[in-house]
Amino acid sequence: MERTNIMLQDTVTMDERTGELVIIDQTRLPGETVFLRLSGAEEIHRAIRTLQVRGAPAIGVAAAIGIYAACRRLPDTDYEPFAREFFRIRDYLAGARPTAVNLVWALERMGRVVRENPGRGARELKALLRAEALEIRDEDIRVCRSIGENGLTLLRDGDGILTHCNAGQLATTRYGTALAPIHVGRERGMRFHVFTDETRPLLQGARLSAYELAADGVETTLICDNMASSVMARGWVRAVLVGCDRVAANGDTANKIGTSGVAILARHYGIPFYVCAPLSTVDMACPDGGSIEIEQRAAEEVTELWYEKRMAPEGVEVYNPAFDVTDAALITAFITERGVIRPPFAPAFQRLFAK
Ligand code: MRU
Repeated sequence: MERTNIMLQDTVTMDERTGELVIIDQTRLPGETVFLRLSGAEEIHRAIRTLQVRGAPAIGVAAAIGIYAACRRLPDTDYEPFAREFFRIRDYLAGARPTAVNLVWALERMGRVVRENPGRGARELKALLRAEALEIRDEDIRVCRSIGENGLTLLRDGDGILTHCNAGQLATTRYGTALAPIHVGRERGMRFHVFTDETRPLLQGARLSAYELAADGVETTLICDNMASSVMARGWVRAVLVGCDRVAANGDTANKIGTSGVAILARHYGIPFYVCAPLSTVDMACPDGGSIEIEQRAAEEVTELWYEKRMAPEGVEVYNPAFDVTDAALITAFITERGVIRPPFAPAFQRLFAK
C-alpha cells in the first residue's frame, strides 16, 4: 500500500515499460491509496463496472489503455485473427457501464485504428494501438487543463462553489473537469470555498471530492445532499460546477444521480449552473435526454453499503439509478476545452462539431 498525495499522481495511465493499465483503486479511497496494474480484459471490465476506475473521462482513458494492454498479450498473427479478437474484447469492454459515452467513444477511436489498417500484422497494430491509447490519455490532460482555464474566467477569487459527485482529478487523468477551474485557480493563489455534496449512495463527494480538494489545499465543507438548498439560501454559493457522463445534442445532460435536483435549486436561488464538459462527452448521435440509457445499480448500495448492519427492512423495493438527466433549460453554460458555450446549445454544438 502506498500513501501519497493523489494530486501528484495520474489517476489512470499506462506503465510505458510493461504496457499495463495503472489505476488508483477509487473504492479504497480515502483510507488507502492502492495502485492496480491490469492487463486482462476481465479484470479491466470488472474495474470499470465496480468503480475502481470511475468518472466519464477516466473510464474512457482506462478503456483505451486497457484494450491495448489486453491485446498486447495476443500472438503476433496476421491481421484477421488479431482483428477478430480485438473487436471481441472491444464489444465486451463497451458493455461494462452504459451511461458514460466516453467508454464507447474511446473504444471507437481504438477500433478505428484497427479498421483503417487492414493488411497490417499484429505487431504493427499493437504499436499503433499503443500510440493511440497514449494520445487519448495525453489529450485528456490537455482538455482538462483547458476546461480549468476556461472555467476560471467565470469565477472570482473567494467564491463559494457547490459541486456534486466527483468530477475532479480522480475522475480524469489529471485536473478533472468540474474541479479543474478550482485546481488551476489554486495554482495561481486564488482561494475558493467548495461545498461538496456527499453524493448518495456511493459517496463520491464525501470519499473522493472532499479528499482530493483537501489534498490540493482547497477549503472544503462537506454537506449531505439534502443540505444544498440550505447553503444556497444563505448566499454561500456563487456558482455550481458539475461534470457530465453524456450530453445530448440538445444540451440535456446525464450526470450523477442528484445533479438535476441541484440544477433546479440553483435556478430557484438564481445561481449559475455550469456543466464542465469535454467534447468527448457530447454525444451528437443522441438527440435528447430521454434517449440516454441510465445505469441501474444494486439495491445493496442503498440498503447496506456503509452501514454496520443493514438499515432498511429486508425485501423493501429499491430504486437505484446511478444518473439523472438535467434539462438543458436549467444549464447556464457548458465549459468545454473550446470555450464557454451558452444557449441555445443545439446550434452551438452543431457549429463546434462541424469544424
Ligand atoms: O458513477 P460515477 O462515479 O462514474 O459517476 C461520475 C459522475 O457522475 C461524474 O460527474 C462524471 O462522470 C464526470 S467526471 C469528470
